[in-house]
Amino acid sequence: MKVNITNHPLIEHKITMLRSVETGTKDFRDLASEISMLMCYEFTRDLPLEEIEIETPITKTKAKVIAGKKLAVVPILRAGLGMVDGILSLIPAIKVGHIGLYRDPDTLEPVEYYCKLPSDIGDRDVIVLDPMLATGGSASAAIQFLKNYGVKNIKSCHLIAAPEGICRLNQDHPDVEVYCAAIDEKLNDHGYIVPGLGDAGDRIFGTK
Ligand code: PRP
Ligand code: URA
Repeated sequence: MKVNITNHPLIEHKITMLRSVETGTKDFRDLASEISMLMCYEFTRDLPLEEIEIETPITKTKAKVIAGKKLAVVPILRAGLGMVDGILSLIPAIKVGHIGLYRDPDTLEPVEYYCKLPSDIGDRDVIVLDPMLATGGSASAAIQFLKNYGVKNIKSCHLIAAPEGICRLNQDHPDVEVYCAAIDEKLNDHGYIVPGLGDAGDRIFGTK
């Protein structure tokens, strides 16, 4: 499995601010969105281009535009929603599907509660969005879901990943390409990433 660490100085700086317990809800949301936008720049690097003819004020010329590739992003609810705006700021017309999963606090297993995907999802390349790849259970389940719908080309994008989550995705979905801004040290006994940033959903939505 290919793992891309998007370790640009701007991303590293913003991840540090995201981690800080001093960062409040508004700034956390803004930072998550900005980092997602910068990561979007990386995971779209292989988008195919095609040449079209245009006219500049000086002359006619051939120039490149993105070929009409069918893409979709699928945030895992709820924290994945915090990454959507950043992607939309670069690809405003991208389709957005939603998969609702929460992690059972005792078993740490993902529990599905919602799914709404574009009707032609099986024909699209899909980027799964979830700020935290901890045990990897949620991302793995979401990816399996998409595969069951016929999706063939999947990327998985996370702000922070734990080594355990990367291992899990590598075992379950070696064909998926992973993008993360940081790989942290480990998980603690409650399945939280260390040092991490705490509970991403609670920090984005201000629920704690
Ligand atoms: C968090 C996070 C991921 C999941 C990661 O969601 O947003 O979806 O945990 O953990 P895993 O890799 O061990 O599965 P949570 O269950 O807290 O739900 P929420 O987004 O609704 O807060
Ligand atoms: N989910 C989170 O929001 N944070 C973690 O550290 C692990 C799972």
